[in-house]
Amino acid sequence: MKLPIETLQQIQQMLNAVPFMKSLNQKEVEELAYQFNQRHFMKGETIIHQGEPGKLFHLITKGRVDVFRKSLFGRKKLAELGPGNFFGEMALIENVPRTATVVGSEDGEMYTLSRDVFERILLTNPSVSETIKQEANRRKESNKAL
Ligand code: CMP
Repeated sequence: MKLPIETLQQIQQMLNAVPFMKSLNQKEVEELAYQFNQRHFMKGETIIHQGEPGKLFHLITKGRVDVFRKSLFGRKKLAELGPGNFFGEMALIENVPRTATVVGSEDGEMYTLSRDVFERILLTNPSVSETIKQEANRRKESNKAL
């Protein structure tokens, strides 16, 4: 699919500003830009439901989300994420159901990647893969302490 040049430039700019993309060269960023789909989310919208199968990886470009986990003792807020942060990586990496619920705390925008593309990026970009996996492990460890 051919994207309009403004969209492509916007995605490239955004990817250049994302810390874990820093290791990629311009050509790699350009290739990656074609794989992302842009999506809006709204305040109060549940973007990911805990326990469901995971299909997409998400990268926030605008606005914020809250991450919650349900347990026997009720709902606990695990984190707030904003522009440049990603979510939805854990179910894809570990092949498990979604580990938490993610809800828009403001209207915002994000880019999504399908599981196939996400897996291909992890395979072909070791440093991106390393950064995402380290963060997934950090989140997993911090959730264990709850
Ligand atoms: P996933 O399990 O696919 O879907 C829910 C997402 O919430 C999860 O991936 C992470 O991206 C995110 N998440 C879970 N725990 C935390 C945490 N402690 N801090 C930030 N994000 C988290």
